[in-house]
Amino acid sequence: MNKTEGGRRRFAPGAPAPSPAMDRDLGELIRSRRAIRKFAARAVPEADVREVLEAARWAPSPANLQPARFIWVRDGELKSELQELARESKAMSAHWDASFAPGGSNATVNDVRTPEVIAVCADPAKSLTNVNDENGYEWAAAMSIYAMWLRAHSLGYGGVFVQHWLPDHAKRILNIPRLWRFLGTFTFGHPAEQKEQTRLPFDEVVFVDRFPGAPRP
Ligand SMILES: Cc1cc2nc3c(=O)[nH]c(=O)nc-3n(C[C@H](O)[C@H](O)[C@H](O)COP(=O)(O)O)c2cc1C
Repeated sequence: MNKTEGGRRRFAPGAPAPSPAMDRDLGELIRSRRAIRKFAARAVPEADVREVLEAARWAPSPANLQPARFIWVRDGELKSELQELARESKAMSAHWDASFAPGGSNATVNDVRTPEVIAVCADPAKSLTNVNDENGYEWAAAMSIYAMWLRAHSLGYGGVFVQHWLPDHAKRILNIPRLWRFLGTFTFGHPAEQKEQTRLPFDEVVFVDRFPGAPRP
């Protein structure tokens, strides 16, 4: 059963196994989650924000090193600074890719004022040294992000992960150590839009045994 030790909930081997009904719900939850970028200006209860952060905290990491850290940005001035940086980051990208310039297909600057903002960073020193793990800290942070996204959705919120930041500027604003990786922000709140999305067909992305076709570079 679940018990609390020193404020940390631990899940013991005897915890009840997920039921078939939970399975169905999780499948539906995964399929119905969308990137929501428009939010109603209504506060999210702190308990729900904490619940979303709990999902981040319980995400897996290489050897349980837990390299990711999460900054809940609540201060209005900091959020305004980030909003300006979001605009500047798009403008920088537009230097190389016109789709990010005003009027372009990717021009919309993400709202980081209305929703709750969780900045995600990770410590490269907390990585393993196996032959395929030089960036395990980033993988771990990514798993936390998806966990937050799903948990927010399960609580009825909409959200989106935003990677589109000039990272050093974001690190300066948020006081993140220089050598750490700034992954981006997960923003979530009361959804003010409904989205639909598609995916490539199953057989186009899933193969059995070997990648199809003749060897190619
Ligand atoms: C790694 C990653 C980076 C993303 N960066 C941004 C971003 O900078 N701005 C944004 O609006 N959406 C961003 N998204 C959201 C994607 O555009 C969105 O997930 C995708 O279009 C699929 O739509 P869906 O999430 O509704 O299924 C990002 C998603 C991922 C996984």
